[in-house]
Amino acid sequence: MKVIIAGDEHFLEEMDTLPLEVIFIARQPADLHRSLFQGGYDEVFIGFEPDVSLTVLENIKGTKNVAVVFDNIDQFKNYGETVFKLGGVPILLEDLKGRFTKSEAQKKISVPSKIVEQEIKKREEKSPIATDGAPKIIAVFAPKGGVGKTIISAYLAAHMAMSGKKIVAVDVDNVKVGADLGRRFGFFVKRDGTNYRNIIDFSNFPDNQYHQWELVEKYIVRTDSFPNLSLVLNPPRPADLGYDFKLVDKAVSILRYHFDHVILDLSPLPSQLNVEIFTQLADKVFFLTTPDPGVIDGARTFLDAISKYDINLTSFHLIINMFDSKHDKNANKIAHHVGLPLRGNVSVFPYDSMFREKRIEMALITPKILNKSNFSRQMDRLVKEHVFQEKQTIEKRRTGFFALPFFAKKKG
Ligand SMILES: Nc1ncnc2c1ncn2[C@@H]1O[C@H](COP(=O)(O)OP(=O)(O)O)[C@@H](O)[C@H]1O
Ligand SMILES: [Mg+2]
Repeated sequence: MKVIIAGDEHFLEEMDTLPLEVIFIARQPADLHRSLFQGGYDEVFIGFEPDVSLTVLENIKGTKNVAVVFDNIDQFKNYGETVFKLGGVPILLEDLKGRFTKSEAQKKISVPSKIVEQEIKKREEKSPIATDGAPKIIAVFAPKGGVGKTIISAYLAAHMAMSGKKIVAVDVDNVKVGADLGRRFGFFVKRDGTNYRNIIDFSNFPDNQYHQWELVEKYIVRTDSFPNLSLVLNPPRPADLGYDFKLVDKAVSILRYHFDHVILDLSPLPSQLNVEIFTQLADKVFFLTTPDPGVIDGARTFLDAISKYDINLTSFHLIINMFDSKHDKNANKIAHHVGLPLRGNVSVFPYDSMFREKRIEMALITPKILNKSNFSRQMDRLVKEHVFQEKQTIEKRRTGFFALPFFAKKKG
């Protein structure tokens, strides 16, 4: 196995002690480019200062079998995730050395998939954020405006945040004007638009600094009422900005590192962006309709239209919003007509006149109002059963002695 090593003097000295067949030594990042171009190697080991290594890795994105070597465990923890994102494998120098015992000195080495697996496992164990198998990226979508995408996104985010998980809800609706999502949490975009944080802002985010919370923090707004809930809002005229998937993907891959769950409030368009979000980003899609025949037909037509793409429809969960008692018997019919694979993946949310309230303070979502309305209780169920997928036993315990006030049932 032929290897290329690139790094500072200290690293090169360390590597010198290992039984590697080194075909090229790069003391400068630029030298590495040249040697990669010439080819003929099996593995690449990079060992500059972490920030430099990540920049190098970013620049050679797509190159296979690249390992970034870290001096100490803190660096490994801080930068390992980013290395993975950029397509490399993070390795601790100590571990790398440990792989060469004297007896194996003559053996040729590589960074085989087994090591990659080990590193991935390690990364999962050390990841700052764990989601216990719950969907990490959740998109809320309907192929029509005004059916409740934003209200569902907002309540979903609030309920999930109350469970203790760290949540960020992102307004990806570049059709609707104004910070619709933020408004539900009392956050109003100023006329001059100086206070929003937009997906577009992420285009300036330094690629190799995903892990730095101090930087990421500048791209979000925090809600006052839910300490675990942050938002990325829209500017006053989002349509002017022209989002694309690359940008949304970038924002999400940064955010997912710092939050347990990312909720995307989508535009109602059958756009390339939305299709790419369904196919490449979302672990779960809450697909909305109302009981109105026109809206149901629209939902059906949309699903037919996207059936040519490689979309996993089992990740779609149907929500019938603004449902009132006179519709009760039709929920299954509606679901059937929309044409999603069902198996219990349908939830019904009642019409709630509270949302039509003119006074804005009545529409604000606070921890206090959660579980006070049928709408909110439905969301509580949805979150427990279809997001966190809690077992019955856990749910029981929560309503018992250890119940949080939030989960407690209203008396009388
Ligand atoms: N279940 C519901 N009952 C009553 N009004 C609702 C309900 N869901 C949404 N609304 C109202 O309908 C309007 C559109 O909802 P919104 O969430 O903004 O839809 P979208 O994001 O799909 O355009 C808002 O005024 C909202 O308050
Ligand atoms: Mg909306």
